Amino acid sequence: LAAADADTVRREFAPRLIRWQRRHGRHGLPWQGADAYGVWLSEIMLQQTQVATVLDYYPRFRSAFPDVASLAAAPEDEVLRLWAGLGYYSRARNLHKAAAQVSRDFGGRFPAERSELEKLAGVGRSTAAAIAVFAYGQKEAILDGNVKRLLARHAGIYGATDQPATLSALWREAEARLPDDSATLRRYTQGLMDLGNSICTRSRPRRNECPVAA
Ligand code: ADE
Repeated sequence: LAAADADTVRREFAPRLIRWQRRHGRHGLPWQGADAYGVWLSEIMLQQTQVATVLDYYPRFRSAFPDVASLAAAPEDEVLRLWAGLGYYSRARNLHKAAAQVSRDFGGRFPAERSELEKLAGVGRSTAAAIAVFAYGQKEAILDGNVKRLLARHAGIYGATDQPATLSALWREAEARLPDDSATLRRYTQGLMDLGNSICTRSRPRRNECPVAA
């Protein structure tokens, strides 16, 4: 595409995605609109676990540890016991560690800046961005596995995503598509996750139902 056309494609991406999310995206998930603690907890659970499973674990975990202070104060084996079944137990150990970090280094409040959130155990750049968006409405780009695939297809980036050059191109495209209107950032970000999960699937993507394909 000519540079001007590529710009138009990028500019039209967010409004199309947002419109699609309203009609077809996921709504009413228990961590949507939660406090930073709930958003963080859900994002860690969702890193390697399906939404359907997290719907079962998230409320139980929150009842046992209603806030970050109670999680930080709990013995590690108690945390691991409530995590049992979710797998990838390094996530549970990092969760406990991060709760202690929030209590000790951030005065018991989750920081609102992506760069600060990245200092927490188990929180990489994309998870930090998701927390900053969902909990605080910040303008940050996510790039998880689903979003990498979606953006690679949309932007025509075909290199292996373990190559630094490919990754930085994908981050650039992710940033370039962020909507200007800050009131739409949550819906936009949820829409990216939803579209990657339902339409822009790894095998047999449903291109004819994709709001950003044309
Ligand atoms: N995967 C990662 N974060 C998610 C979220 N907030 N909603 C649905 N799926 C997700």
